[in-house]
Amino acid sequence: MSNVFYRSRKSYPVAVRAEGVFIEDAQGRRYLDGSSGALVANIGHGRSEVAQAMAAQAGQLAFVHGSQFSSDVLETYAARLADFLTLPNYRFWAVSGGSEANESAIKLARQYHVERGETGRYKIVTRVPSYHGASLGALAASGMGARREVYAPLMREEAWPKLPKPDPALSGEEDAERLRAVLEAAGPETVAAFICEPVVGASDAALAPNPGYHARIAKICQEYGVLFIADEVMSGMGRCGEPLAVRLGGDVTPDLVVLGKGLAAGYAPLAGLMASPAVYDTVMNGSGAFKHGFTYAGHPVSVAAGLSVLDIVEREGLPQAAQARGKQLLAGLETLRGRHPQVLSVRGQGLLLGMVLGDPATGEAYAQPGLAERVAAAAREEGLLTYPGSGAVDGTRGDHLLLGPPLSITPDEAELLLGALDRALVRVGQHIPV
Ligand SMILES: Cc1ncc(COP(=O)(O)O)c(C=O)c1O
Repeated sequence: MSNVFYRSRKSYPVAVRAEGVFIEDAQGRRYLDGSSGALVANIGHGRSEVAQAMAAQAGQLAFVHGSQFSSDVLETYAARLADFLTLPNYRFWAVSGGSEANESAIKLARQYHVERGETGRYKIVTRVPSYHGASLGALAASGMGARREVYAPLMREEAWPKLPKPDPALSGEEDAERLRAVLEAAGPETVAAFICEPVVGASDAALAPNPGYHARIAKICQEYGVLFIADEVMSGMGRCGEPLAVRLGGDVTPDLVVLGKGLAAGYAPLAGLMASPAVYDTVMNGSGAFKHGFTYAGHPVSVAAGLSVLDIVEREGLPQAAQARGKQLLAGLETLRGRHPQVLSVRGQGLLLGMVLGDPATGEAYAQPGLAERVAAAAREEGLLTYPGSGAVDGTRGDHLLLGPPLSITPDEAELLLGALDRALVRVGQHIPV
């Protein structure tokens, strides 16, 4: 009997080593990591340079508490990150995971308004579908019915007004204008912030609005005195071909930018938020402290991992690599769509790619989810790891597959990925899920 509390009853292979885009299990099976875990392993696995940087940091200074000390590595990293992201004078708040980072953003937005005397602002407008994390605040912000349902009694729905997902039929500006109606209905003087994923991740594989959307969102937020939070936990750090996906369709600078996953690319738990000088100064010149904190915030070993990962991302030009490999993979996915009628559409930005699956007869989602899980299981049999999801249509209906290999994937490895996915789709065939 195992003492491990697993995520589900299914049995998990035991991973023993990983290198580049491949993970090997205890049986000696190799898997191509087509989803970087959950879009995490941006620089690929097994980089000894990162391991050495972490070991050196652990040997010198493994831990200090944020209420007592700063560290050189944290100062250096925050400056390098602000530079990489072109967010001059922004302040980096370091935490251990994307959910903690979004909790921090939500609380900071609320405190910012309280410091300014606008104590009536507390609502956070979010989108449906969306995923911002598993902790209760981040989950409350998430428009993902299935993950929220059990915990709904613990949430006050009225505090989380919802904007519909981006509509590709509208221009970016028209699409963003729909935020105005949501703000008016909620009472703009009660809204603290609007949060969205610039390119949607787990809840609606790689859905992106048309160009101009985020610039108009930022303008509307400013008009109403509402902070704009870009959740770039999945889309940021080069995954979509640019340091920040929010800037793909035009120059935008959100008030708060939330980061995670690719920051330390899985080598250590590291996430955080970048806060604008206006937000930081308001809090520091007001009560003088952010009323929030986590024990492991700014952990020196995690930050050392982040710094070493950033060295590699910059040195190897991984955002540009993501653009090139993204084009190759998207073209390959288009070919698969032509061969497999259950693939309704494919889309993507850089190496955040999505495949929408459904009923070829109607071109719509099946009534029950399950197809994406079947394709992912078949892909695993073919030695390919993917990230299946469901519920994008109405919380239940909708099947999709998220793909996002390490940004360091080679052209040949990208072809291997496409070949395995093709064979997986053949295996599943026209099987209609029950
Ligand atoms: C956009 C986005 N935000 C937040 C999170 C939560 O991050 P974590 O699982 O590290 O808490 C995720 C995780 O998938 C995510 O995709």
